[in-house]
Amino acid sequence: MQEKINQIADYLRYSSDELEIIKKSNSYLMNTYARELVITKGKGMYLYDKKGYKYLDLIGGIATCSVGHANKRVIDAIIDQLQEVINPSNLYYSELQAELAEKLCKITSLNRVFISNSGTEAIECAIKLFRRYVHVRNSNKNKLICFKNSFHGRTLGSLSATYEKTYKQIFEPLVKGMVHIEYNSISALENALKKDKKIGGILIEPIQGEAGVIVPSNDYLKQVFELCRERDLILILDEIQTGNGRTGKYFCYQHSKIDPDIVVTAKGLANGIPIGATISRADIDFEKKEHGSTFGGNSVSCAAALATIKQIELLMPEVASIGKKLLKELENNFCLDNDDKKGYLTNIRGMGLMIGATISSGVIQKFANTKTLYLKCLDNKLLVNFCHEKHLRLLPPLIIKSAHVREGIDKLRRTFGDTG
Ligand SMILES: Cc1ncc(COP(=O)(O)O)c(C=O)c1O
Repeated sequence: MQEKINQIADYLRYSSDELEIIKKSNSYLMNTYARELVITKGKGMYLYDKKGYKYLDLIGGIATCSVGHANKRVIDAIIDQLQEVINPSNLYYSELQAELAEKLCKITSLNRVFISNSGTEAIECAIKLFRRYVHVRNSNKNKLICFKNSFHGRTLGSLSATYEKTYKQIFEPLVKGMVHIEYNSISALENALKKDKKIGGILIEPIQGEAGVIVPSNDYLKQVFELCRERDLILILDEIQTGNGRTGKYFCYQHSKIDPDIVVTAKGLANGIPIGATISRADIDFEKKEHGSTFGGNSVSCAAALATIKQIELLMPEVASIGKKLLKELENNFCLDNDDKKGYLTNIRGMGLMIGATISSGVIQKFANTKTLYLKCLDNKLLVNFCHEKHLRLLPPLIIKSAHVREGIDKLRRTFGDTG
């Protein structure tokens, strides 16, 4: 198998420059990522490697690149801001922070925002807000329901809320008080609440992203919300992957017409510039000095976010239809009768431009594993993502057009058809 992988990696034909960078990376960077390409440039729907090869990007920096690589409006906003001030710090008021917070409150109809630098930090903030809310009410309901196969980040609090054992076991002891139950099952939720009287809130992804784009049944989120209202539970939505226009509304929960207590966003909020935000009800707030961040809310990230949101709002009306087109094309080309034995993909699912599919057992057999399949995609100059050795995940920038869909389908067809 290793030989086969090496052989395919050979297709990438690293230049001496690239080999130098790979060698230096492997020598000096911590051993956290498996990588193949040396990317040096991006433009619109494409990334370019150091040799100048052009790759169609259907994963968009894992949903961070919401409005396309090197988006001119976002670049201009960043450059303008760089010339004014980068990070005056949170010792002072900032017009851009206030503007961004107001915008996020208007989008959600919530009232307070804490701006941080990443998804995991924004989740930490949500967990702390929840714990504080419980504490100041002298309640003992400080446990949070989380879900099997969920992903919320890598810092200790968010990692404790994350499900995947291989991400967390070696870091124990973790933060206590996270109860993981079955996703998309109201009875599992009711049972957990019956069994454990210390549960005071729910942390949930409207669609599970890292799990391979797991879309719950239509009314599930609404039912979760109603249960929260009935039982006086705090509902925290992790919209880090589903938010920022990805599903056709600004936040995915807006399809379900519910009012969460806390909404968490990051990823596509500033088109790749690091940022996270935790948005909450007015009565779910900190007192001075209870939370903070040196870089959180810096002027450049806020300027990038404000410019990105403007672009997202322009692109959002097209997201549902272009997403449907991509999903239909995947079905028509690769999913024969939804039968695992026929076709290449089964169970193609998603909402807007968040699309997942299960790779058929025939394809897994043919390519031995998704790593080989991934390398074939690279060989065909296509960037996608595979999760848990069996799911294909697509999170393209929202600027994707029909021609890119056709190009992506062509490249996938070549990949699946490849017998090398
Ligand atoms: C749903 C969800 N929550 C949290 C995170 C963590 O975000 P970050 O990697 O920015 O810390 C991610 C990242 O993939 C995510 O998809």
